Amino acid sequence: MKLKIAVLAGDGIGPEIMEQGVAVMSAVARKFGHDVEYREAICGAHAIDVVGDPFPEETFKTCMESDAVLFAAVGDPKYDNDPASKVRPEQGLLAMRKKLGLYANIRPIETFDCLVHKSPLKDEIVSGADFICIRELTGGMYFGPKKEEQDEAFDTNLYSRAEVERILRVGYKYALARKKHLTVVDKANVLASSRLWRRVAMEIMKEYPEVTTDFMFVDNASMRMIQEPRFFDVIVTENTFGDILTDEASCITGSMGLLPSASTGEHTPVFEPVHGSWPQGKGLNIANPLAQILSVAMLYEYFGLNEEGKLIRQAVQASLDANVRTPEIQAEGGAKYGTREVGAWIVDYILR
Ligand code: IPM
Ligand code: MN
Repeated sequence: MKLKIAVLAGDGIGPEIMEQGVAVMSAVARKFGHDVEYREAICGAHAIDVVGDPFPEETFKTCMESDAVLFAAVGDPKYDNDPASKVRPEQGLLAMRKKLGLYANIRPIETFDCLVHKSPLKDEIVSGADFICIRELTGGMYFGPKKEEQDEAFDTNLYSRAEVERILRVGYKYALARKKHLTVVDKANVLASSRLWRRVAMEIMKEYPEVTTDFMFVDNASMRMIQEPRFFDVIVTENTFGDILTDEASCITGSMGLLPSASTGEHTPVFEPVHGSWPQGKGLNIANPLAQILSVAMLYEYFGLNEEGKLIRQAVQASLDANVRTPEIQAEGGAKYGTREVGAWIVDYILR
């Protein structure tokens, strides 16, 4: 297959993990005879420094002309500590989601047996947890009408029926391919927007009788997720709840550095780690490249190249088993491995 990939490395540890992501992508392409063409483009704080815009038109164009975007991370502390700054790196990420129409953010939560002890939760709770959080990504409070004045501010959690319906259908598609259990997470006991979600879901669910649909308030869901994560198969929820719940869910796997994601919708899909730019880790060769590498697996799978995805997952599992791990998940003893060494080991495994 011929693939044009836009490469958006962004800020902080972004370029380092991206280097490994691209190396793995290329190794798999070589092994399976795919022709991958990369086009680098700037975004985030780096793009603000260069052109004053965290998602420049040129980058948008590159994304639109590509088959997929491989994205790493954006963010820089110099903006976090300055609430007055007019332009922020995160706006670039939001602009990309909106302009590419990426309404469905797929965040799989899987556990690796050899890492369950890294989770702050008890092994017997975490072991075997395997679910997907489908987060609506272009609506709700992130994008609704806002006001920000000196003494008053608001965000609006605006959703239309059409927006709710299309994301629910994505949820059902995944549920049908998995354990056929869909949990709609909302706050319908308080929020009007959530009651719309629930009304639409109660209509749509009739079209999917094979799937067990249940409804859970977000406060309850956040508790259930750490009490009994195996309860979940597919979660569908609005933008803000999905943002919060997926950070919480990352604790189940033991490291944020393990979670990949796919964002799909109207235009070019984007594949990116769930974690951020971790500026403190920048340049130290300690960032875990696995979330980026697993995002490459999701990219291949998106195009139906399942064997390619499987090989990447196998290689990742093998690296963990061999204790070829970055410091935050390394088992006691053994040689030390950094971002580059883990990436290189996985590339070798793939080309073996
Ligand atoms: C995420 C991030 C972003 C979000 C930030 C960086 C804007 O936390 O992808 O989860 O809130 O969506
Ligand atoms: Mn988040």
